[in-house]
Amino acid sequence: MKKRLITNQMIEEDITIETSLRPSCLDDYIGQEKAKENIRIFLEAAKQRNEPLDHVLLYGPPGLGKTTLASIIGHEMGVNLKITSGPAIERPGDIAALLNNLQEGDLLFIDEIHRLNRQVEEVMYPAMEDYVIDILIGKGPAAKSIRLDLPKFTLVGATTRVGLLSSPLRDRFGVLHKLEFYTPQELATIIHRSAKVLKVEIDVNGAYEIARRSRGTPRLANRLLKRVRDFAQVKFDGVITEEVAKASLDLLDVDPLGLDKNDRKMLITLIEKYQGGPVGLDTLAATIGEESDTVEEVYEPFLLQLGLLNRTPRGRMVTPYCYKHFGIIMNN
Ligand code: ADE
Repeated sequence: MKKRLITNQMIEEDITIETSLRPSCLDDYIGQEKAKENIRIFLEAAKQRNEPLDHVLLYGPPGLGKTTLASIIGHEMGVNLKITSGPAIERPGDIAALLNNLQEGDLLFIDEIHRLNRQVEEVMYPAMEDYVIDILIGKGPAAKSIRLDLPKFTLVGATTRVGLLSSPLRDRFGVLHKLEFYTPQELATIIHRSAKVLKVEIDVNGAYEIARRSRGTPRLANRLLKRVRDFAQVKFDGVITEEVAKASLDLLDVDPLGLDKNDRKMLITLIEKYQGGPVGLDTLAATIGEESDTVEEVYEPFLLQLGLLNRTPRGRMVTPYCYKHFGIIMNN
């Protein structure tokens, strides 16, 4: 019982820290310059016209700040933010209730929007376009459709798989932004900001070392910072220097490029079992005991960005740089 209580407390603390590490206004949001500048203009214009912001679609790999950006938009517009996700909305009635409970100007954030089912999507079309929903009452020939007016709201959709969005849904967003991986410099700035919130001392090289190994992702950078802080506190004198960061990240099994055990397993499997490829996604995923979706959405984007992996029409292939990284000699 006592153990469970402690665990829950720790989880709560973690969630509070996680939230406090997130910026609440656009000026504090680091990186994604293009998306940020565009959103700043659209926000200003909407505010001047006293209208809700047009619907926004944010897409890109996980951990790049889609939810953070949505909550900043809500904060900047001075409206409420309601958060839900595609798989949580099962029936048209669920989305109708959600939409009907919004207030004028509110922001509805739907994460994993590519996972909305067809019937729910169909409710979304007139809701997004004309702020109305059509509700079917009764069944069979006696069924009647009634139209319900909705408050003017802004939908912010987020997805890691924009290609899976149906075109009628995608076309109803007025603003579309792809979030890009962060540069090590941007991540280092985020790490310095987070270190201040966490009240841990870190020097320039310490922050850069964590940044380099964070796979271009703020979520990971903040997670690694918290773990390195633990090492600094217990094994060193509490200050995060380059030496402390390197030693801690090596112990955490995060290599100098930021690859973790799963990345390495996938790439080395490709080299050792499939002579470097090409091999089909499903075969590769099954060989390493992962879901194809996870490989495609979570592991691959950063490996492609680093130039360790290629997607070809015949399947996945490692690059010569990948062999070099692992110190493996290429056959022929
Ligand atoms: N924390 C997480 N993501 C961030 C970002 N983009 N800017 C500043 N702090 C962050």
